[in-house]
Amino acid sequence: MKNVFSTLLCIVTALPALSQGNVYKQAPTKWEGLAMTPPMGWNSWNTFETKIDEKLVKQTADIMVSSGMRDAGYTYIVLDDGWMTRERDANGNLVPDPEKFPGGMKALADYVHSKGLKFGLYNCAGTKTCAGYPGTRGYEYQDARFYASLGIDYLKYDWCNTEGINAKEAYTTMSNALKAAGKPIVFSLCEWGDNKPWEWGEPVGNLWRISGDIYPCFDCEHKHPGNWSSWGFMKIIEMRKDIRQYSGPDHWNDFDMLEVGNRMTFAEDKSHFTMWSLMASPLIAGNDFRSMTKETLAILTNRDMIAINQDKLGVQGFKVSSEDGLEVWVKPLAGGDWAVAFLNRSDDAKKLTYDWKNKKIEDAINKLDAAFGTTNYTIKDIWNNKQAGTTSKTFKADIASHDVVALRLSKKK
Ligand code: GLA
Repeated sequence: MKNVFSTLLCIVTALPALSQGNVYKQAPTKWEGLAMTPPMGWNSWNTFETKIDEKLVKQTADIMVSSGMRDAGYTYIVLDDGWMTRERDANGNLVPDPEKFPGGMKALADYVHSKGLKFGLYNCAGTKTCAGYPGTRGYEYQDARFYASLGIDYLKYDWCNTEGINAKEAYTTMSNALKAAGKPIVFSLCEWGDNKPWEWGEPVGNLWRISGDIYPCFDCEHKHPGNWSSWGFMKIIEMRKDIRQYSGPDHWNDFDMLEVGNRMTFAEDKSHFTMWSLMASPLIAGNDFRSMTKETLAILTNRDMIAINQDKLGVQGFKVSSEDGLEVWVKPLAGGDWAVAFLNRSDDAKKLTYDWKNKKIEDAINKLDAAFGTTNYTIKDIWNNKQAGTTSKTFKADIASHDVVALRLSKKK
């Protein structure tokens, strides 16, 4: 009788949770609300790999401010692999390399903070990082306390040397450790998509990589010895076609750090930045600010394009059509606006003729559409920085190979 009674009591107490439909949802372990729009900043890896030091970080922070990048929204300075010594100390603590960082990591974090910026570090869920420095496996709580003591704001957490461990569990352990350490830290999962972090990452981290590493080319596969590849930016865009519904405020699909300013053409850099913006990917620059051209800076700080990336609706864009190498990509925006990109994937210049009235743009997942038949939209041509009529007229443009025309459509008032 007592058992029947307690079973009934359990069911009755569980009912409110069941009716809210949240009884099976995992409680969040991450610091919530730290990335309501995609994080923006700079990471050392794409240009410098492990050749990083205090001077580089300070110069980068200084230029982030003086160039206007901070005011355009770039806030995080993240040191990737290579900031530690090869061994932990006698107490098992990580040791910032004293030759690369003679002033110490705390002083460097303070310097970055004094510029109105935020500071991030890198480690790995495995026994060693990808470049062979001490990994965090077995030291999660100790490392999290160290990061909290430095006052860092962002942790990128990689997936090398993790044989035999479960990704969801490993990332959840570190997420719990960061929470227990008491300092809010954005948790950036870098698992490359092998274990589908989009399916379990939302309570665990604020963003997750969806692919192997980026390579500064439009659409190539760059093979490395040892059977792994890095990928041109359009390869990453195409790699995961069906996961846009998993991305949103505080839980972003991360298409990897930017290669803008790293050896691609001006047209390709514009296309890359446009696609990352339409995909609502984090915008983490990966170039050397000290030798940045004004063209690169103009791309990275284009306010209209950044507004599309940072749009409050937080919806990842998608491809609408592809015809003869000319692709149409869109992103629904807050207030009924749309971003539209015409991207020339081919090796030849193309003439675009787009009659809006005969086209349908529909986001079935979010139940949004652009009703060109009944609604007239004004057009802002973003890269040419000019108004370009309305959707009542056919849109025409010449688009060079690998170049893009990016528009913002706003409902005509
Ligand atoms: C992996 C990551 C890269 C970078 C390197 C560092 O390849 O995917 O982004 O962090 O490790 O070794």
